[in-house]
Amino acid sequence: MNVFDVIHRHRSIRRFRPDPVPQDLVDEILNAGIRASSSGNMQTYSIVVTAGDALRERLYRAHMEQEMVRQAPLVVTFCADFRRMRKWLRLNDAPDNFDDFFAFLVAAIDAVLVSQTAAIAAEALGLGVCYMGSTLAKADQVGEILELPEGVVPVVGFVLGWPDEDPQPRDRLPLAGLVHHDVYHDHSDDEIREIYRDRDQTGWDRYMNIPRLRRLVEEQGVENLAQIYTELKYTREGHARYTRTVLDYLKKQGFFQD
Ligand SMILES: Cc1cc2nc3c(=O)[nH]c(=O)nc-3n(C[C@H](O)[C@H](O)[C@H](O)COP(=O)(O)O)c2cc1C
Repeated sequence: MNVFDVIHRHRSIRRFRPDPVPQDLVDEILNAGIRASSSGNMQTYSIVVTAGDALRERLYRAHMEQEMVRQAPLVVTFCADFRRMRKWLRLNDAPDNFDDFFAFLVAAIDAVLVSQTAAIAAEALGLGVCYMGSTLAKADQVGEILELPEGVVPVVGFVLGWPDEDPQPRDRLPLAGLVHHDVYHDHSDDEIREIYRDRDQTGWDRYMNIPRLRRLVEEQGVENLAQIYTELKYTREGHARYTRTVLDYLKKQGFFQD
């Protein structure tokens, strides 16, 4: 398969066979991952590959009890990490300017680029991945389980293993709704309706096929996909809680001075 085939065949995998992923494949995937560009080639990230049953059981709880965390042989957590770099600076009598929020953003971008490059490499080898937003939303718990020291923050993570399902690729919004030519075009209401026309239907159908969500939709009188997103999935209270968690954790990990 060429790289375009791999990219276009992507779909998140949430059911896995129990077979382990051989270490040489893990190394191949991560060696590809670290070919990603990084700010100043500083590579301000660390990758934690968790295989042990007891640790994955603890991660399962931190990752909001998503069954795939128990099922997949590996959980791979990509962390923003200025700790290694800052130690190197200290050893070389170089000033340390990396104890601030901007440093965290730089490192987080590096970590995300590595994760997605590794994800594509994994899929090229026939493996499956599914990201977990709880890596950041529950950064404090994930950080404690993985024993992350100051200067290190989990940003994105995915489960990795051999697929035990073969779902169809999910839809995407049309390119015309995502790309702007020369400068930003602020969409009119009609354009927004057109951009989301197919999604409104496919997304609604998808969620109606998930019994737990269907029940919630019926109980709460939710009427459309947009309402599913912000009345059920991504509530104001949830976001406020996660914002607090992340800000407090960034402060604890030395990325937020005030
Ligand atoms: C940062 C991030 C966090 C995600 N978190 C979760 C998650 O916690 N659980 C889950 O089942 N899928 C999660 N996903 C997967 C998305 O739901 C999925 O990528 C999206 O629905 C598109 O489907 P596809 O990946 O199959 O194309 C996450 C994806 C990303 C990029």
